[in-house]
Amino acid sequence: MTKLLGVIGDPIAHSMSPLIHNGWIRDMGIGAAYEALRVPEGEFNKALKTIEKRDCLGLNVTLPHKQVAAAIANEVSAATRAIGAANTLTQQAPGFWRADNTDAPGFMYAVGDIDERADRVLLLGAGGSARAIAYALSAHGVPWRVLNRTKDKAERLAREFGGGATESGALNQYKEYIESATIVINTTSMGHDGSILDLPDGMGRTFFDISYGKVSAPQLNHARAQGWQTRDGLTMLVAQAAYSFEIWFGERPDMEAGLRRCRAALEAIS
Ligand code: ATR
Repeated sequence: MTKLLGVIGDPIAHSMSPLIHNGWIRDMGIGAAYEALRVPEGEFNKALKTIEKRDCLGLNVTLPHKQVAAAIANEVSAATRAIGAANTLTQQAPGFWRADNTDAPGFMYAVGDIDERADRVLLLGAGGSARAIAYALSAHGVPWRVLNRTKDKAERLAREFGGGATESGALNQYKEYIESATIVINTTSMGHDGSILDLPDGMGRTFFDISYGKVSAPQLNHARAQGWQTRDGLTMLVAQAAYSFEIWFGERPDMEAGLRRCRAALEAIS
């Protein structure tokens, strides 16, 4: 029987998760179908009860449900508990859900090699995405600092996950922090309202924006023009999907194939 998989969120129409997972399901000849399920805020529990009646193996969870997914699961991984958010649910027995967070390992895969002694990592933003990244960095012994517009959120993140110095206010004031970092990770949603962070000369250092497509393009173009090596969030998206897929099917899918399909889809709409 065909198993149901899906991603729950709102909005969800533009999610690339169905493209990624259905591609792997097809490639690997698995009897499953992955759907995008729009579930408004406050309706997660009700939706899960309905989904339980279908033959559902697992779900990805995105905004605004990641926290509630971690809170209501019957079993929760240690990382998910620390981060306070789940992006992967697995129905291990009827009505028994396990929660995992694959954003954290997805980030580590996407950022590539970090030298925890030599690299200086600067995290921009202290929202939901930053939590998984801060957790992942600390779990790998990588020191980091955080800058965020709202000071208490930066301080809370540093306190919870063991980050170094924090600052707050308009990010464009903090060029000296960026000057001294070797890897800058932009987790803010500045790109969504068209704002760009003004960067100093990158001199071959890394600027990683966890957004992708049209949202990240202006910021990454600016970073490249300033001499930074850039990465967008597409590899992280595909990697978190691959780790979820591995939890469900016990086999790591072809990340490169997933990435190729995403890049082609983004090119087709640009
Ligand atoms: P996500 O789950 O994607 O991380 P979020 O939790 O809403 O989204 O967090 C968005 C982050 O972007 C926050 O760190 C936010 O700063 P505040 O904590 O001060 O709200 C940051 N952000 C959003 N717009 C910004 C802007 N124009 N300039 C600087 N930071 C911005």
